[in-house]
Amino acid sequence: MDLGIAGRKAIVCASSRGLGLACAKALAEAGCEVVINGRNRDHLEAVAADLKKTGAKIIPVAGDVATPEGQKALFAACPEPDILINNNAGPPFRDFRELTRQAIIDGVIANMAVAIELTQKVIDPMIARKFGRIVNITSGTVKAPLVGLDLSSGARAGLTAFMAGVARSVAGANVTINFLQPGAFDTDRFNSNIENTAKKRGIPFEQAKTERVATIPAKRVGLPEEFGAVCAFLCSTHAGYITGQNLLIDGGTFPGAF
Ligand SMILES: NC(=O)c1ccc[n+]([C@@H]2O[C@H](COP(=O)([O-])OP(=O)(O)OC[C@H]3O[C@@H](n4cnc5c(N)ncnc54)[C@H](OP(=O)(O)O)[C@@H]3O)[C@@H](O)[C@H]2O)c1
Repeated sequence: MDLGIAGRKAIVCASSRGLGLACAKALAEAGCEVVINGRNRDHLEAVAADLKKTGAKIIPVAGDVATPEGQKALFAACPEPDILINNNAGPPFRDFRELTRQAIIDGVIANMAVAIELTQKVIDPMIARKFGRIVNITSGTVKAPLVGLDLSSGARAGLTAFMAGVARSVAGANVTINFLQPGAFDTDRFNSNIENTAKKRGIPFEQAKTERVATIPAKRVGLPEEFGAVCAFLCSTHAGYITGQNLLIDGGTFPGAF
């Protein structure tokens, strides 16, 4: 399918690995010019060299997306993106009793405030151009919270509710705002979570992974490229009538009919 977005400019935050990288790759394959981002400069540049093989213009911007300097660098590379993919690392597993006030504030900044700040910066030029696509990578835990990921679930649920109103206020200008809620995807973050579980329980990594996979109706973890393809579709011209929606991509894990 021609996604109709060749030549569009995209910023994909936190995209040197995992789900962000998969979104960047799918957008590059659709012909977009893509700004990719991560804190580790060497790794980011190696990834940029690889993505350039798609033929797309790829601009690596090293920096922490949660900081004003990191955000400034992103917009210096691409002042008026047509597409913004909000992504960032999630907080680690922790008993909520252990969270200090500062840890709570940091979690809310990382998984709620940053996406709002970036949206504030891109939205008016998108409205003026009558085209904009914003996709927020949140988590399946927004819909079905997991004990230990309470801060992640809470901050992302806050972002979801915040943006729900904003989405309706800009829909008339062909600017859409949607949310992707990943379940288990085969990324470094997922594998390090499995490693932690294995250590805690004193079992081998492979056993912990097999047990986790057995809980997923699809009986496998998701492939990042499956996630990237959905993201690129939501950014396409075909998806202009989809806004304010949360799409769970979890191999059937969430058991509800709705
Ligand atoms: N994978 C899953 O199964 C799953 C499930 C539910 C939710 N999620 C959520 O989806 C998001 C992406 O997860 P993932 O599995 O793709 O993670 P990942 O494999 O750990 O990749 C994270 C990416 O973000 C970059 N990054 C992290 N912090 C950054 C920062 N402050 N500024 C700029 N770049 C930053 C990392 O590069 P650097 O380290 O070099 O900065 C890396 O490129 C996370 O919020 C995660 O909680 C994932």
